[in-house]
Amino acid sequence: MLKDLKKQTSSISHIAFIMDGNGRWAKSRLMPRKLGHKKGVETLKEVTEAVYARGIKHISVYAFSSENKQRPEDEIKNLVSLVKEYLKKELENFIENEIRLEFMGDLDYFPKDTQDIIGDSLEKTKHFKNKVLNIALNYGSQDEILRAANLAKKFPNEITKEEFYSLLYTSNIPPPDLIVRTGGDKRLSNFMLYQAAYSELFFLDILWPDFSETELDKVLEEFGKRQRRFGKV
Ligand code: FPP
Repeated sequence: MLKDLKKQTSSISHIAFIMDGNGRWAKSRLMPRKLGHKKGVETLKEVTEAVYARGIKHISVYAFSSENKQRPEDEIKNLVSLVKEYLKKELENFIENEIRLEFMGDLDYFPKDTQDIIGDSLEKTKHFKNKVLNIALNYGSQDEILRAANLAKKFPNEITKEEFYSLLYTSNIPPPDLIVRTGGDKRLSNFMLYQAAYSELFFLDILWPDFSETELDKVLEEFGKRQRRFGKV
């Protein structure tokens, strides 16, 4: 069964998730929003495992956008602490399963203990090649593109597309083949705007905490039916 799925997904190198809908999931159960984010982390664990089991090598997740800093202080603290706990708890699992961690975003924003855990998870997983988990933290795609444009000024000549790509946070990761957004909205919300040029987009009504391995397989099946022409006929 998994072998068949792997065959179906063999053209996919990178899948990205905009994990939206945690707050509404909690609200509909009369629970505080933070329990929605907590359930969101459980979903993240299930989904990453399922993606790697299907032979897909790179996963990106939008965990904390630069705009999320406008949320109430309590919620920001809760999200940062969830990320910290997740990295602490999962590090052994990342090492055991040879998953390399990557991060994109302005990480200076985070408190020292969070930056230390990020640094530790980068250092201890940097040699792994076959599975990559790229976590967007305090990330905004327009900032990423501006940052790359400023770095490009140091090049003596006009730079190529490949050189520009190497200045993005995703320099070690190919662009996503597909981007999945849960939660009903149909937009990219400042996520991977440059990298998304030829990504197949999936906008699902399901809320992130309800997303599952079964939903993932529905997306992968639909992806298999799409024709990717990359501008050609
Ligand atoms: C959007 O839901 C989700 C987020 C802003 C954060 C996503 C974070 C997690 C799933 C957990 C932490 C991540 C890691 C990597 C451990 P929302 O709050 O905007 O939901 P709503 O639109 O229903 O209000």
